[in-house]
Amino acid sequence: MTVKWNYEEMTTGLSEIDEQHKEWFHRFNMFQEAIVNGQGQAALRSALSFLADYAEVHFEREEAYMQRYHCATQAKNLEQHAEFRAKLAEIQNWVDQGGATMVEVMALHLALEEWMIKHICDVDVHLRAVVEVP
Ligand SMILES: [Fe+2]
Repeated sequence: MTVKWNYEEMTTGLSEIDEQHKEWFHRFNMFQEAIVNGQGQAALRSALSFLADYAEVHFEREEAYMQRYHCATQAKNLEQHAEFRAKLAEIQNWVDQGGATMVEVMALHLALEEWMIKHICDVDVHLRAVVEVP
């Protein structure tokens, strides 16, 4: 299953952040392709670091906006971003050490995918209530 961004449930009211979420989904889907197509450990590693790099760029911007607008979910956002970084680093280490089977990586991918959707819908969307209307 590929993940798709949708306006009704996922918009934050900030087009920059919405665009970053779309790009993040895109990279997430590339990670899935690397697994499904059995592109091997090297492709899997590069898809994972591509995803992790973008998470850093995106988290930094989003955290700054939450602080600027005193968003109600700011603390929860920081906490969950730290949780995501830790989970992703764990998967990266596992893949690096060659200890992960395809089935296990797929299960982790699914768990991360669920995390990402839930995080955007439950935490990030609270920005919508506080951002300045242009
Ligand atoms: Fe977030």
